[in-house]
Amino acid sequence: MFFFISLLLLKYSKQGFLLEKQLQDFRTAGTHTLAAKVFLRNVIITCNGENIKSSIATQFNNYSIGFRMHALEPLIGNGIFASEGERWKASREMLRPQFSREQVSHVQTLEPHFKNFAREIRKLNGKEFNIQDYFHKITIDTSSEFLFGESTNTLTSASNDKFQFADAFNKVQDTLTEKFMLGPLHWVSNSKEFQGHIKEIHDAVKFYVDKALETQEEKLQERSQDNYIFLYELVKKTRDPKVLQDELLSILLAGRNTTAGLLSFLFLELSRNPRVWSKLKEDIYESFGQGSSDELEKITFESMKRCTYLKYCINEALRLYPPISRNVRVSKKNTTLPRGGGKYGDSAIFVPKGTIVMMHIYSNHRQKDVYGEDADEFNPERWENLKPGWAFMPFGSGPRICLGQQFALTEASYITIRILQTFPHITGNNPQYPPRKVSNATMRLMDGCIVTLK
Ligand code: HEM
Repeated sequence: MFFFISLLLLKYSKQGFLLEKQLQDFRTAGTHTLAAKVFLRNVIITCNGENIKSSIATQFNNYSIGFRMHALEPLIGNGIFASEGERWKASREMLRPQFSREQVSHVQTLEPHFKNFAREIRKLNGKEFNIQDYFHKITIDTSSEFLFGESTNTLTSASNDKFQFADAFNKVQDTLTEKFMLGPLHWVSNSKEFQGHIKEIHDAVKFYVDKALETQEEKLQERSQDNYIFLYELVKKTRDPKVLQDELLSILLAGRNTTAGLLSFLFLELSRNPRVWSKLKEDIYESFGQGSSDELEKITFESMKRCTYLKYCINEALRLYPPISRNVRVSKKNTTLPRGGGKYGDSAIFVPKGTIVMMHIYSNHRQKDVYGEDADEFNPERWENLKPGWAFMPFGSGPRICLGQQFALTEASYITIRILQTFPHITGNNPQYPPRKVSNATMRLMDGCIVTLK
């Protein structure tokens, strides 16, 4: 039974409509919480904010991260994203200081990568292209520089041979999803090709970890004085190559595709909404000028935070297309969720030990009783007076809340500002709407985001 339901979900997933199907299931049933028994296992799927808050924040200790540990283990071992208990606490303690305000306000380091991006787009001479591919490239180039001190440089012709694993990374993520959906049968999905891609990624990361471990302390100090390098800071805390590899890949996994996803969905919507594009452009020009080199210093961590309409647009993209669209916990003991029971669904429900609780963030962000009848529409203005509380949590909440939130918002804002300054005109060619989505550990556009920029 579990196998057949998984196959059915896999079918919708392969067609790119799994999230829509689940959203429709909630709407058709007129509920926010559905419970089922699947292969003797209790499963609860919920988009209710109170239930989500309970599973990831207030009742945090009653839940484990479940299948995620096994599904991600081949790629990230015991890294923060796949561990729990004392191991997770130690990881979080070690990594959290690396995301402080100074470390994430990295706007100057982004400009060279944006210049590479712009150069590639100009070469297209106004022809249409898939901007999602370019967002995946720029985010891996910037993340690798932040993490390893050397960029993959996928956007330049002098790309780094040791670091050509972007394709392998995408393919590995697809297999990890299959493993996730196969649940207890996850071992079925373990092809030679998958193992080869994992090796390719591990070898590339090992190269940089070994290099850092071989470098004398004073040299590391010298290098990280000019520019913050995550790996060099971690080496001061642990010299275990496996721990370093697992944590670096966790951060890469957590950070790279999520930010690229946010940008891709944002530009899909901007290319469909000329009014929003013009208004955003006006806001950006007013705050930061039109991109002349003597005005670039106007773009800072603080000034980006004050650019209200940009913030609304980013929030709206995160609302409609949360890059982590579903999240799972498994109850470690008998417990309760506050909503879903009683005649009107507003009483608590019993959650027996071992229940899989799937939090459907995609549907949580589209609740019509919170966002109104236009909940499925892209409307940045709604953020003028909106206080969605637990109906908006793209970065999660509670003890495992995203460590990279400011990092991601800084990077996405900077890239958006620079694109609108450099290319004032956009057109889109994405007839399929709502767009088909690949939704695994993170979400991306199945057919890409086809635009022209001039
Ligand atoms: C738009 C971009 C991003 C979104 C929407 C996002 C979302 C999330 C969410 C929902 C979680 C919680 C997962 C859970 O509760 O199980 C999370 C965790 C995490 N995120 Fe992000 N993230 C983004 C970008 C980043 C970036 C850029 C980094 C690092 C550079 C990062 C690093 C992490 C880490 C390390 C965790 C694990 C925290 C833990 O388990 O204690 N994220 N993220």
